[in-house]
Amino acid sequence: MTERPLVKVTTKAPKRCTSAEIGAFEGLVLKGGEVDPHGLSGRISRADVLAFAYVSHELAGVAALKRPTGNYHASVFKKSASPRPRAVFPVELGWVYVLESQRRKGISQKLVDALLKASGQANVFATSRTDNVPMHRVLERAGFVRTGVAYPSGRGKHQLQLFVHTAVQLRAGGTRRGRRVSQLRAWTGRAQIRALRNPERQMRHLLSGGRGGAGGRSPPGRGNASSEAPV
Ligand SMILES: CC(C)(COP(=O)(O)OP(=O)(O)OC[C@H]1O[C@@H](n2cnc3c(N)ncnc32)[C@H](O)[C@@H]1OP(=O)(O)O)[C@@H](O)C(=O)NCCC(=O)NCCS
Repeated sequence: MTERPLVKVTTKAPKRCTSAEIGAFEGLVLKGGEVDPHGLSGRISRADVLAFAYVSHELAGVAALKRPTGNYHASVFKKSASPRPRAVFPVELGWVYVLESQRRKGISQKLVDALLKASGQANVFATSRTDNVPMHRVLERAGFVRTGVAYPSGRGKHQLQLFVHTAVQLRAGGTRRGRRVSQLRAWTGRAQIRALRNPERQMRHLLSGGRGGAGGRSPPGRGNASSEAPV
């Protein structure tokens, strides 16, 4: 079993970082080699949140939450043919990089988890090369789901996959049961309103003990089209 080092992860708005921290962050992102270096320091300074992972006070990994530009944002959701509306996912998780000597120790998972915690109620998207198995494992374990189809990257010859993370999963505890409870609450509320507008239904509603029989429809559940979790 790989020994897990003591890792300290901090998240900060760029304006709270020293120029040495911004420089060190940029240095690791450039090592990844997948990002356009032109204007990178400016883009880092405009990010929402930067995450730094330290092992024995040495910077071992970085990641960030950022606001994509309109063109790039639109093209990702268009090229991936995702049915999810891009406006629902305004924040991008990116610039994830861990030093080669520190890989397979759970560092990127800690970075991603810390950023999702810092993202509050925002829904987040991320793109990853289709062959980047470690990154897919990290994203999926953090609650991201794949959406749409793989599409060619503008940089290099590889294919990219879009992933999305909805904040509702955090509010509902990220469990299927949590989401179902929220849906049932919403459905029951609608059934009561319908029942109170119609006296005949109101009587049936009361006779059923207010358990949702009044609307003449069954609550959402498995096998019901309306049971899909909200985006
Ligand atoms: C992708 C990257 C960030 C992963 O960082 P990491 O800290 O090594 O990841 P973790 O240690 O959290 O491991 C993630 C999972 O992938 C698995 N994994 C790691 N390397 C793997 C490999 N080569 N093949 C298969 N699985 C692998 C790990 O075992 C772990 O899964 P597990 O916990 O179920 O065992 C790192 O490899 C990296 O910096 N790559 C270059 C930059 C990059 O690709 N960034 C992502 C851009 S979207």
